[in-house]
Amino acid sequence: MITITDPRIESYLLGMAPDEDPHLVAMEEKALETGLPIVGPLVGRLLYLLTRLKQPALIVELGSGFGYSGYWFARALSLRGKVVMTDYSEDNMAYARQVLSESGLVERAEFRVGDALQAGREYENIDLLFIDIDKYQYVDAIEAMLPRLAKNALVVADNALWHGRVAEEGETDRETETVRRFNEYMFSHEEFFTTIVPLRDGVLVAYKF
Ligand SMILES: C[S@@+](CC[C@H](N)C(=O)[O-])C[C@H]1O[C@@H](n2cnc3c(N)ncnc32)[C@H](O)[C@@H]1O
Repeated sequence: MITITDPRIESYLLGMAPDEDPHLVAMEEKALETGLPIVGPLVGRLLYLLTRLKQPALIVELGSGFGYSGYWFARALSLRGKVVMTDYSEDNMAYARQVLSESGLVERAEFRVGDALQAGREYENIDLLFIDIDKYQYVDAIEAMLPRLAKNALVVADNALWHGRVAEEGETDRETETVRRFNEYMFSHEEFFTTIVPLRDGVLVAYKF
């Protein structure tokens, strides 16, 4: 298995960015307890930065879990901005709603239980699309959502290096193959300018012309 970031670099970076927000700390503990993968604090900071720079009116998040990444987006949004969170799990969405209510950010969020792609298709002029659903759905996700993106939108996708498997020829499972096809699509599509930041599990960031 390929290591994306040397563990010493990872812990150096984590040491630089201690979380003092009790909601983030509680959600990081919940992720450890439940085993639900979250983007973590370093990618959370990247999401925050991209949101502050872009100042989106509408963020659609495909695959929100219990709201950790969505919370980073909501914190960074201006008052006129909104983040739509989507997840199969009613419990996850209820937890996300509770955290955002407690932190005074609930007005900036919408919570959709059910299939993320079905919910996502209901929105237009999306300024920032975040993709973190099951990996075998990544190509379907971008194909479904491309017509719904605003001009100059950002697309951000987690796990773009998929534990390094994308770079290992012998890995041919459905998830790895789909993440490879997704990356190729994003890099070769004439409407996107794309890179992958090799932070944690790889974060694809693309600008739509
Ligand atoms: C990796 S977790 C999301 C973590 C979250 N983005 C974070 O960093 O805090 C993926 C979540 O997406 C949900 N999921 C996967 N595919 C989905 C789909 N098609 N529709 C709705 N939820 C989906 C899973 O149940 C899981 O809760």
